[in-house]
Amino acid sequence: MTESLFGRVEAFAGDPILSLNDNFKADPRPEKINLSIGVYTDEHGRIPVLDSVRAAYERIGFAERPYLPMEGHPLYREGVQKLVFGEKHPALAEKRTATIQTIGGTGAVGIAADFLAKHCPGRTVLVSDPTWENHHGLFQRAGFTTTTYPYWNHNGRSVDFNGMVQALEAAEHGSIVVLQPVCHNPTGVDLDEGQQMAVTEVLLAKRHIVVFDMAYQGFGTSLHEDAAFVRRYAERASCLVANSFSKNFSLYGERCGGLSVVCRDKDEAERVLGQLKLAVRRSYSSPPMTGGLHVATVLGNDHLRAQWTREVETMRNRMDSVRRLLADEIRALSNEVDVGFLLNQRGMFSFTGLSEQQVTALRKRDGVYLVGSGRMCVAGLNEVNVPKVARSFVEVSQAVRG
Ligand code: LMR
Repeated sequence: MTESLFGRVEAFAGDPILSLNDNFKADPRPEKINLSIGVYTDEHGRIPVLDSVRAAYERIGFAERPYLPMEGHPLYREGVQKLVFGEKHPALAEKRTATIQTIGGTGAVGIAADFLAKHCPGRTVLVSDPTWENHHGLFQRAGFTTTTYPYWNHNGRSVDFNGMVQALEAAEHGSIVVLQPVCHNPTGVDLDEGQQMAVTEVLLAKRHIVVFDMAYQGFGTSLHEDAAFVRRYAERASCLVANSFSKNFSLYGERCGGLSVVCRDKDEAERVLGQLKLAVRRSYSSPPMTGGLHVATVLGNDHLRAQWTREVETMRNRMDSVRRLLADEIRALSNEVDVGFLLNQRGMFSFTGLSEQQVTALRKRDGVYLVGSGRMCVAGLNEVNVPKVARSFVEVSQAVRG
C-alpha cells in the first residue's frame, strides 16, 4: 500500500447510549447493573419474549420472503394507523394519512427528516432541551440546523412549561418542532393535558411543522391515553408521527417502527406517500419482513392484540413498582436524598439530577451504568439489584460533589 486513502478519517467519539452499552457488555465485573440503554428487562433481568409475539411467530412459520413494498406490509401499516390514531380517527376515515413501515423509530425520524429536507428545506428544527441525542444528529444529517426549546426545570424536576411556550412563540414561523408526546426521553416528565392544549394553540398559531416522536406508547398510562396528544393534534392540523415497536413489543433487534404523515386530504396523502416511498428507495429500498410480520399479526388479530395489551400493562406496572421500590430503599438509607422525582416521572426513564462526575463515580466504583446526562433506565431495575443501586445512589450523592 503506497498511499493512505482514509488516513484523515476522524475517530468516532462514540455514541452516548450505544457505545456505553458496549462498554457495559465489556465490563468484566459480574455485579454490574445496566441502567443506561432504554431496554426493558423483566424481574429476572431478561428481555422478555412476549407470549403474543410468540403466538404470532407460531402462526407465521417460515414462509417465502419476497421483497416488501417500499412502504412496507399493508397489514402492518394498517396496524400502525389504528394503534397510533385510534380506529375512528377522522384522519383515517378520510384517508388522509400516509403511513410507511420503517426501520425502528430511529428510521422513522430519519425518513421524516429526509422528507422534510426535500419538501420544507431551510427551516430551523427545534428539539427539547434535553432530548434523545440522536434527534439532533438525524436532522443535521438531513441538512438542517437544530436548536432547542427549554423543557426541563432542574429545580422543580418538572417541565419548564413557560420556557417551552416562550421559545416556541419566539421561533420563526413554520419551524419544525420535534415533540415527544409521552414518556419523554430522557427526563420522564410529560406535558399534562392542559399544557398539551396550550402548546397546541401556539404550534397552530405559529404554523410550526410538528414531528411527534412516540417511542413508548403504552408505557405511560395506557396504549390509548398515551396517544391522546397526537390524536387531538391530528384532528386539527397536519403533522408527522414517528412510532416505535422496539419497547412495547420487546422487539429491539427487529427494528420495527412506523412513520405517518397526516395530510389535508386524500390526494395530498397519496402524493406524500409516494415521496416517502422514494425516500425509502433511496435509503434502504424496502423494510425487512420478519419482525414486521409479528407486529402485524398481533395487531391484526383481536385475541392477540388483547393479549399484547395486557403484556404492555404488565411491563408498565412493573416499571411503576420498581420506581417505588427504589424510592423506598433510598428513603430507608437517607432522608437527605430527594426521591420525589422517581415517583413523578414515568415511562422507562428517570432524570436523576446526578452530575456527570457522579454518574462516572457510580460506574467506576460500583458498576452501575447510567447515561452521562444522569438518565436512569428504571426498566433495568428489579428486586435483586434495587438495594445495591439505592446504596450506590446515596453514597455517590453524598460523597461526590455534583
Ligand atoms: C435509548 O434512548 O436508550 C433507546 O431509545 C435506544 C437508542 O436507540 O438510543
